[in-house]
Order: sequence, then C-alpha cells, then structure tokens
Amino acid sequence: MIFKQLFDTKSSTYTYFLADATTKEAVLIDPVDSQIEVYLALLASSDYLLKYSLETHVHADHVTASGDLRNRTQAQTGVSQKCGAVNASLQLNDGDILQFGRYALKVIATPGHTAGSVSYMCKNRLFTGDALLINGCGRTDFQGGSARMLFDSITQKIFTLPDETLIYPAHDYSGKRVSCVGQEKTINPRLAGKNCEEFLSIMNNLKLPKPKLIDIAVPANRMCGVTEEMVQQG
Ligand SMILES: [Fe+2]
Repeated sequence: MIFKQLFDTKSSTYTYFLADATTKEAVLIDPVDSQIEVYLALLASSDYLLKYSLETHVHADHVTASGDLRNRTQAQTGVSQKCGAVNASLQLNDGDILQFGRYALKVIATPGHTAGSVSYMCKNRLFTGDALLINGCGRTDFQGGSARMLFDSITQKIFTLPDETLIYPAHDYSGKRVSCVGQEKTINPRLAGKNCEEFLSIMNNLKLPKPKLIDIAVPANRMCGVTEEMVQQG
C-alpha cells in the first residue's frame, strides 16, 4: 500500500493519502483547502484515481478541500452522518467499510471531540482525527462535544485495539507524527492511569480560546468546503 502523511503548516493539520499501487485507487483523509494543488499533483504523479475524500469530523480550524476535490476529480466525499454535512456524497456510519483497490477503511465512531467524530482503521493504522492526539486529545467544548463521550470512545474503542496499532492524529503542534495504542495508554497525560472523573476534571479546566476560524470553517465544512455559489456553478 502507498501511504503518505502530508502536513499543512498553517493549521498544523495532517492529511493522509492511501492508495493501492496496482489498481491506483486512492483515498485522502482530512484534506485542507489551501493544499489542493499538492493533492492534485500527487494524484497526477502516478495516475492515481481518488475514490474517496473523507473527513474525521467537521473541522473548526481549517476548511476542507473535499468539495473541491469532488469537483476536480471523480472522488466521493464522506463524512459521518452525525456531522450535519448536508451535501456530502456519503453519510457514514459506525462499521461502514470503504474499499479502495485491495484495501479497506473501516469507520469507527469515536464521538466526544464533536458529536460526529469518527476514526478510520486501515490494517494496523488508525486515523483518529481529533479524538485521540499524541500525548493529548481534542477539546470537547463546542460542536456537540462531550468529555464523557470522548473518554468512552478512547477507553472503550481505541484502547481496546492491539497495543501495536499505529495512531495517526489530525493535528500535532510540535512535530510528533505517529504514536501507537500502547504508548498512548501508558504516557498520554490526560488518560494514562486516569478514571473518567479525573479526565472530566482535566477537560473542564482547559480554558482554551475559541478557534480563530470556527465561524468560517464550520459552516463551510458542512458544505464539504464548497460555498453555495460554487455548488450552484456545479
Ligand atoms: Fe477538530
């Protein structure tokens, strides 16, 4: 399998590219609008066929490239049906399987950062979005977030996967690129050795500022990043 971890420095977002080298079918997870030319060049570099452009959730800190990719390739966009992204090609549910070439991604509902947050599993890699970050986790104070739900998603779903499962988050702000379930269980300061009440106390006292782009990014991302005007133009 071809696998690339791409990075948008402005929003510190990781975008993941997965492809079958033989059939050329490819998937992008959490593409960023300003990086669209990078994705198109990558697709053209080996005649990849973008089958899916997927979101782990409706992001508050950047606008997705998914709608644009759907317009400029044959890709279908996919978002959890709990995200309220009305014009997504696919409304995804827990357990859905997305096939690309000889490989498949499994949708695992991991709500808590937002009500519609999902992770995607492909072989031994788990793309966790903002549910589980490396040494951290996503905030839970907007977009239907719930710290209690996030604790359950992490401890009952992600942490029940094999320890060797690789964790690829949607963001990192200090250059960390990959972790694994065993490591996060052991050293993640919000979760290691913490019960639910201790986790809730940490999450309820983060006192984070509102994301700068939330009022632009969330409505735009509910439209897969494409404005109404662009949708009307096709
Ligand atoms: Fe997020």
